[in-house]
Amino acid sequence: MEQSASPKRTGSLALYVALLAAWTAMLGSLYFSEVRGFVPCALCWYQRILMYPLAGLIAFGILRRDWHLPFLVLPFSLLGQAISTYHYLIQKTTIFGAPTACAAGVPCTTVWINWLGFITIPFLAMIAFLIITVAMLTAYYSDQPDEERRLPARWPVFAIVAIALLVYGGVYGQAQAAKESKAAALPVTVLEGTEHAEHNPVQPAQPSPALEEGERLYAQACAACHGPDGAGIPTLGNTFVASEFLTANDDAEVLAMIRAGREPGAADNRSGVAMPASGGRPDLTDGQLAAIIVYIRNGLPQ
Ligand code: HEC
Repeated sequence: MEQSASPKRTGSLALYVALLAAWTAMLGSLYFSEVRGFVPCALCWYQRILMYPLAGLIAFGILRRDWHLPFLVLPFSLLGQAISTYHYLIQKTTIFGAPTACAAGVPCTTVWINWLGFITIPFLAMIAFLIITVAMLTAYYSDQPDEERRLPARWPVFAIVAIALLVYGGVYGQAQAAKESKAAALPVTVLEGTEHAEHNPVQPAQPSPALEEGERLYAQACAACHGPDGAGIPTLGNTFVASEFLTANDDAEVLAMIRAGREPGAADNRSGVAMPASGGRPDLTDGQLAAIIVYIRNGLPQ
């Protein structure tokens, strides 16, 4: 009796730790989207789909003292961990290719927060899923002394195979989307070149390097919210056409605004949606942002 009391206590403590992590993650993500106005990307939604049910499931499992709880929770937390790790890697590295936008909506590479230079929202999700996974394994092994209640030996193999398939599918999809968006962009560039040649037969247009770099970076970092032609996308980003802000402010002021982003509560915010600091790409240098500004001012329809 005495001997089994201590691991049992560890087990139920672990369940409460998991409960706390799930609720913190859920309320934190709701705070970011509902209070701060950060728009969740597609990968964020997958993580929410896996995290939110845990807030209820773990509470239910604790109330029912159900030893099946880890079986139920682990597939959610392991899948969530795989997705948030992948999400963090595409934000912070280029190992999955150049940062590309998700198929639609906010780019998955958008960095809304960047505390200490490495803590982003998917990083926080990764930690929460990890805490839940470790807590569930701890609860399972300390709470269940009976041999028959141990996890079946083959169970983790299935989980690993499922996760590997999911990650492979995600990476493959991302690579296909990148290929498609490159293919789609090609004819437009070719057409523009022809047009220039026709309109300026004597003096072929010589686009400045800044304008070209700006166009490329704009397509990568800003177009998903502000539209490929700068006309804006409802609920994501506003139009640059006839923008009073752009006419009233010089390049340095515009650059400062882009660096800082714009909270939904800011006096000059008209849409109630947040613009992420640096457009969600803290890796862009001042020079690169300046090139984007050149493109916004000279390459987009005003
Ligand atoms: C996740 C979506 C998103 C991304 C990505 C994004 N923006 Fe924005 N941007 C916004 C929103 C939302 C606003 C503010 C709308 C408002 O004030 O109502 C805004 C506002 C702006 C403004 C002020 C325009 C005005 O007329 O007030 C500029 C300039 C700007 N963005 C530039 C950029 C640049 C450059 C990038 C790429 C590096 C970028 N944005 C990426 C969403 C985004």
